[in-house]
Amino acid sequence: MNAETQRRRERRVLFLGKRLSYRNENTHRATFSIFHFSHSPFSPSEMLRFGDIELDVPFVQAALSGYSDLPMRRIARRYGAPYTLNEVVLDKLVTQRGKTRKRVLTVEPDDHPVGGQLMGANPDEFGAAAFDMCEAGYDVIDINFGCPVRKVLGRCRGGFHLSQPGVALGIVRRVHDAVDKRCPITVKLRRGIDESAESARNFFAILDGVLEIGAVAVTVHGRTVKQGYIGPSDWGFLERVKRHVGDGIVLGSGDLFSAAAVMRMLAETGVDGVSLARGCIGNPWIFDECRALYAGRPLPPPPSVTEQGRAIAAHFQESVRVHGARLAARVMRKFGIKYSEHHPHARQVRDAFVAVRSARDFEAVLECWYDPRGDWPPVKRRQGPGDLVAAGASPDISPRSTQRPRRVER
Ligand SMILES: Cc1cc2nc3c(=O)[nH]c(=O)nc-3n(C[C@H](O)[C@H](O)[C@H](O)COP(=O)(O)O)c2cc1C
Repeated sequence: MNAETQRRRERRVLFLGKRLSYRNENTHRATFSIFHFSHSPFSPSEMLRFGDIELDVPFVQAALSGYSDLPMRRIARRYGAPYTLNEVVLDKLVTQRGKTRKRVLTVEPDDHPVGGQLMGANPDEFGAAAFDMCEAGYDVIDINFGCPVRKVLGRCRGGFHLSQPGVALGIVRRVHDAVDKRCPITVKLRRGIDESAESARNFFAILDGVLEIGAVAVTVHGRTVKQGYIGPSDWGFLERVKRHVGDGIVLGSGDLFSAAAVMRMLAETGVDGVSLARGCIGNPWIFDECRALYAGRPLPPPPSVTEQGRAIAAHFQESVRVHGARLAARVMRKFGIKYSEHHPHARQVRDAFVAVRSARDFEAVLECWYDPRGDWPPVKRRQGPGDLVAAGASPDISPRSTQRPRRVER
């Protein structure tokens, strides 16, 4: 670790020390007041960069399969996300003519900086898809070596690559050659395929290799592939990764459900940035909250019902514009369920969103439950992961598993 990285960590740890002493005095209140400092421990020189792309704050919106479409990305940006990623796309679906190719290769002028994430098994196909995405206007190409879904692993994609450093690095090299420095490359990994020593060796071989080839950053989710979403993300491992790579850029992932948790991950692990995932689904306000704490300002109050209604309506309108009314109703139903967790009548609102079958139904939920003239009880801040569980943890990580995949969220 160089002197600057070391200084940065010490400053953050000092900050964390203050935070913990607050927590000892009053655990509950501390959650909301811990970051009321007159100045932030984070300095602008810590600006997160992906090649030439400079982000003013180090918390980004992750790739989220089934969620991080253009409407979600637009809403996240509106509330302060400096960078967002499209959901993971199979390389073949980018290179082969079809609806997915057309959709994925349309990058809107207001959707920057945006990362395009790819998954696949074959280095050549990966390279061709990366080239097309780069040409289409993605600012960053992200390679997925983390997906734990059984079907994906069975086809030697996603997290499966963590068990085969040679192939994984072949893919990164091929993508690097294909985009030929026009687009920075980043890689998303889990901390290994499982808890074994061999898995850790493979992880660090891939980590060193991807940075040597020229990836500008890695995002590490502190769970193993085998773990899926069970148990905590190992933040100690993230600290180890950051120490290992020194000046290499590392983003941490896992268990970021509040702005306070984001600050804590930055402070405790020394990572350069963090990637918000479940914590920002139906919760775009988290970016604004992170910005406040990061700047040393108090945490803003939780979004009022009126503000929630405004954000959901804007998200819905974007979704109708992008997907058309029928598909928007289907897509927004699952977002609505997540948004409902902020509402003082969470259970009833959730049930109302669950029953949505059409765009008109969705609008009716908004009119009924988000009426700005309503006399709503105070909003409590949402805590924890909520009930969106991305299943897909697979005990069987062998290729071409014959077991039928369970129905999964991602
Ligand atoms: C519904 C869902 C979809 C996801 N899709 C992707 C994806 O497309 N690409 C990816 O790299 N990670 C994906 N992830 C993993 C997240 O980016 C993140 O690493 C993981 O959820 C851990 O962070 P969290 O505990 O803060 O949610 C997904 C996770 C969830 C819950």
